[in-house]
Amino acid sequence: MTNFLNLAKSRYSVRKFADKAIPQEVMAQVLEAARIAPTGANAQPQRIKVATSAEDLTKIDACTPCRFGAPAVLLVCYDKTVCWRRKFDGKSCGVSDACIVTTHLMLQAQDLGLGTCWVMHFDPAKATELFNLPENIVPVAMLPIGYIAEDAEPSPMHSQRYALEDILI
Ligand SMILES: Cc1cc2nc3c(=O)[nH]c(=O)nc-3n(C[C@H](O)[C@H](O)[C@H](O)COP(=O)(O)O)c2cc1C
Repeated sequence: MTNFLNLAKSRYSVRKFADKAIPQEVMAQVLEAARIAPTGANAQPQRIKVATSAEDLTKIDACTPCRFGAPAVLLVCYDKTVCWRRKFDGKSCGVSDACIVTTHLMLQAQDLGLGTCWVMHFDPAKATELFNLPENIVPVAMLPIGYIAEDAEPSPMHSQRYALEDILI
């Protein structure tokens, strides 16, 4: 049984990937973690574009400088017509759902020996246009994913975390 904290502590944002494709069965396991993620009211609004072809990766590169040479990018979206809404203020659960899904993907990838980097620095309008996403599909995160380059290193930010007393209010 994997120790969760060890897994979570071993993950860092990978910004240098090896030139090696992800086998289909490995990618299938990663995506399974997205499928089983919890979502508000179990609405399951997560929708994921798996970009691996040269054509799709070129589109990704047109949306963000943050692919870091990854052989695949998961574009995590939600369907705004499907996600649960809170009646008090109408707030949608979609972003929360997509973020939980992205976290599942990230940690499952880590458990399988793959690296990832959560990327918010992308142009969502361009992603919508280039990937022909319908109006109801909202892109939330890009997740470059792949085997980690031998000389990849965590950025200094990886080791900068506040003490527990600083985050408890
Ligand atoms: C919501 C979110 C958005 C992020 N967006 C980017 C991004 O656009 N580009 C990037 O290089 N890193 C991005 N990161 C990675 C963070 O910079 C990184 O997680 C943080 O500095 C801590 O480092 P670590 O992940 O190595 O522990 C993002 C992380 C999160 C959680």
